[in-house]
Amino acid sequence: MNKTIILKKRPVGRPTLEDFEFQETSVAPTLSDGELLLETKYISVDPYLRGRMSDAKSYVPPFEVGQPISSGVVAEVIASKNTDFKEGDFVSGLLEWKTQQVSDGKGLQKVSKDKAPLSAYLGVVGMTGLTAFLGLHEIGKPKAGETLVVSGAAGAVGSVVGQIGKILGLTVIGIAGSDEKTEMLTSEFGFDHAINYKTTDDMKAAIEKVAPNGIDIYFDNVGGPISDAVLFNINRFARIIICGAISVYNNTETPKGLAVQPFLVKNSALMQGFIVSNYADKFPQAIGQLAQWLQEGKLKYKETVVEGFDNTPQAFIDLFDGKNKGKMVVKI
Ligand SMILES: NC(=O)c1ccc[n+]([C@@H]2O[C@H](COP(=O)([O-])OP(=O)(O)OC[C@H]3O[C@@H](n4cnc5c(N)ncnc54)[C@H](OP(=O)(O)O)[C@@H]3O)[C@@H](O)[C@H]2O)c1
Repeated sequence: MNKTIILKKRPVGRPTLEDFEFQETSVAPTLSDGELLLETKYISVDPYLRGRMSDAKSYVPPFEVGQPISSGVVAEVIASKNTDFKEGDFVSGLLEWKTQQVSDGKGLQKVSKDKAPLSAYLGVVGMTGLTAFLGLHEIGKPKAGETLVVSGAAGAVGSVVGQIGKILGLTVIGIAGSDEKTEMLTSEFGFDHAINYKTTDDMKAAIEKVAPNGIDIYFDNVGGPISDAVLFNINRFARIIICGAISVYNNTETPKGLAVQPFLVKNSALMQGFIVSNYADKFPQAIGQLAQWLQEGKLKYKETVVEGFDNTPQAFIDLFDGKNKGKMVVKI
């Protein structure tokens, strides 16, 4: 039985299970020349998929209602009529939320179980690791001795950003949504300080307390009031990487917040939006460095692994409740 998850309707506000539908077919897919049959092993659920579920204009086209959702997937080749892939190969790529699917092989990368666990190709040595590495380097331009704040710090991107900051000799402050997460950031990932935004009334003062000399780089994964509080603490020539804004992804009205211009002008600061796919030419070099740090034990990673294809929509929804530590993946 082959299962597919389709977008039943566009979520309004917070996504719910009713926005998704399962379809099943018992018809075995047939392969034409050049095609391969893939069996899904791991599915990546990511906050940015929320944007694709709406029909607002963005850097990637929206999902169509009634059509399968797609995201990063690791799959095994179980049959092949494509000379570049053989049965037993593992691949990663942007694929549909299906237990099995036919591909022409375009856009797929072979991955090896011997080099890293298969799920890691969706995280630390995949899209989120690249986002952390390239966002921090290309826009943050980190220099040893500087102070870095990262929000969404206990998640897939944030936990890697902070650790890279430490490798490069920065003082690193993480912001996350539970005491368990802030404890993990300082004790396991080596962050210098971590702040639980859910139990802190005055974020501006809390940041000032741990960064008395101000902030040089802010890696922003969440937007909203947390990011407003960071802006009060930036230094001259600060760099602000706008990687994501999960706190407003489910808003039904245009979010209102701080007017950022005076903060940027006063501090000659740079604020720039970041999209990882704009830096595709730098992927091989970045993956090489991430893999080396992993091997050397300088970089660690966490995953929250949800078992079962049917739990994919719930795993996605759980991102908005912070149920994950590190990368959220679904194991099939
Ligand atoms: N621009 C790009 O190319 C690119 C690529 C990848 C990811 N991103 C963005 O980077 C960010 C992180 O992505 P990720 O894949 O690493 O996800 P993630 O951080 O692993 O998971 C999402 C986390 O967001 C936090 N969160 C949820 N609602 C929040 C709220 N209202 N306020 C503050 N925090 C909230 C939760 O942690 P807490 O428990 O701490 O609240 C949750 O664990 C997202 O905004 C994503 O869209 C951008």
